[in-house]
Amino acid sequence: MVKIYAVVLVMFFNILVASSAGNFNQDFDITWGDGRAKILNNAQLLTLSLDKTSGSGFKSRNQYLFGKIDMQIKLVPGNSAGTVTAYYLSSLGSAHDEIDFEFLGNLSGDPYILHTNVFTQGKGNREQQFYLWFDPTKDFHTYSVLWNPQSIIFSVDGTPIREFKNLGSRGIPFPKNQAMWIYSSLWNADDWATRGGLVKTDWSKAPFTASYRNFNAQACIWSSGSSSCSSSRSSSSKEAWFTQSLDATGKERIKWVQKNYMIYNYCKDTKRFPQGLPLECTVAS
Ligand SMILES: *[C@@H]1O[C@H](CO)[C@@H](O)[C@H](O)[C@H]1NC(C)=O
Repeated sequence: MVKIYAVVLVMFFNILVASSAGNFNQDFDITWGDGRAKILNNAQLLTLSLDKTSGSGFKSRNQYLFGKIDMQIKLVPGNSAGTVTAYYLSSLGSAHDEIDFEFLGNLSGDPYILHTNVFTQGKGNREQQFYLWFDPTKDFHTYSVLWNPQSIIFSVDGTPIREFKNLGSRGIPFPKNQAMWIYSSLWNADDWATRGGLVKTDWSKAPFTASYRNFNAQACIWSSGSSSCSSSRSSSSKEAWFTQSLDATGKERIKWVQKNYMIYNYCKDTKRFPQGLPLECTVAS
């Protein structure tokens, strides 16, 4: 009971924080799409669109080195087959780090796939895919990345779906030195996105539109070679998110999601890794 009460309080607090958060003009730049990306409603709403000529995208103004980053997204409704809405954090260069959410569209009524990946030092191949337990096109839902020195936790509406632990002591690289920007884009990927490329984009349904709101980052902002978290004593490095890890409830939730909604896990794909599964898959956690 106490736990449920606490969860409700936390949810309420999150809503307050999110609604007082910054606006899209302050936090993001539209980077491509020639007018197809729009910032609306006093900069409280951002929409991306895709038509036969082009998709569109945006990028954060800040670079982050650790953070708890929430975004509410409402995905392309109706027949979204062939479209991909990517929402991710990434640094630059061939040895970049990256934390990915990609939403693979589908025919009306068929389920989206939430595709996730983690790149460290330019190397990915760590895909996990999920169905969602709701229709992500009907309403906004919160997609979060908690990235701190101990782990990366992907969550959907506060439910953790995936954890990538810092196993640096076991020789597995972990993103901890390269600041990342937040990116999102909506584009056509009908060569692979829906049923492996079998279902193509129906351009008669264009333009396709995805919407964003309530961006909230509790994060260490990286600027001119220094972090906002190390520059002052009272800052984020002392905040709860910086040391947060999965508690017992979180571990149960992640198991529930992985049991009921996970449709692909690279850690189980022995055919793909005939020489042996990646090390992080075999280290006891
Ligand atoms: C689309 O729907 C089909 C049929 O239910 C399903 O097999 C597939 O995983 C769904 N998602 C994508 C992105 O292909």
